[in-house]
Amino acid sequence: MKAIGVDDAFIDRLVETFYGRVLAHPDLGPVFDARLSGRWPEHMEKMKSFWSAVAFRSGAYGGKPVQAHTGVSNLTPDLFPKWLALFAATLDDIAPSPEAKAWFMATAERIAKSLTLSLFYNPALDDPAKKTG
Ligand code: HEM
Repeated sequence: MKAIGVDDAFIDRLVETFYGRVLAHPDLGPVFDARLSGRWPEHMEKMKSFWSAVAFRSGAYGGKPVQAHTGVSNLTPDLFPKWLALFAATLDDIAPSPEAKAWFMATAERIAKSLTLSLFYNPALDDPAKKTG
């Protein structure tokens, strides 16, 4: 991680910059703020320890991401591509290296996919009897 420019200072900056943009985003902002109003500082700390735990395998984060998202009102599957696009744009602006951007994107995409499956997976959509093509 050091070799590609990722350290705690960068993670702080990434989280601050990204959630600043999330809040200003017309679709993402209201969904986050409805849940986190009055609790933003805690969320920012949590996200810093989350990314730091993933990047440095530090064990600093002990939360449960799937549970944390289950009660978020108006969280719909179409918001995930928007989240990822905003994260990519943020990394384009501030990532210390192309490798750092690639690592953060690959990790976020994997987690987004896994969250989407846990939150929205509907076995009926995979029913072969209902497949048209
Ligand atoms: C549109 C997509 C997303 C929305 C609207 C969303 C929204 C939220 C909200 C509102 C919370 C705060 C929950 C609470 O404390 O009450 C939260 C927590 C969190 N989110 Fe997301 N999120 C999204 C995508 C993601 C993705 C892609 C990741 C992973 C890279 C992620 C990682 C986390 C983590 C680690 C927490 C903290 C969980 C805990 O409490 O330990 N989220 N998210």
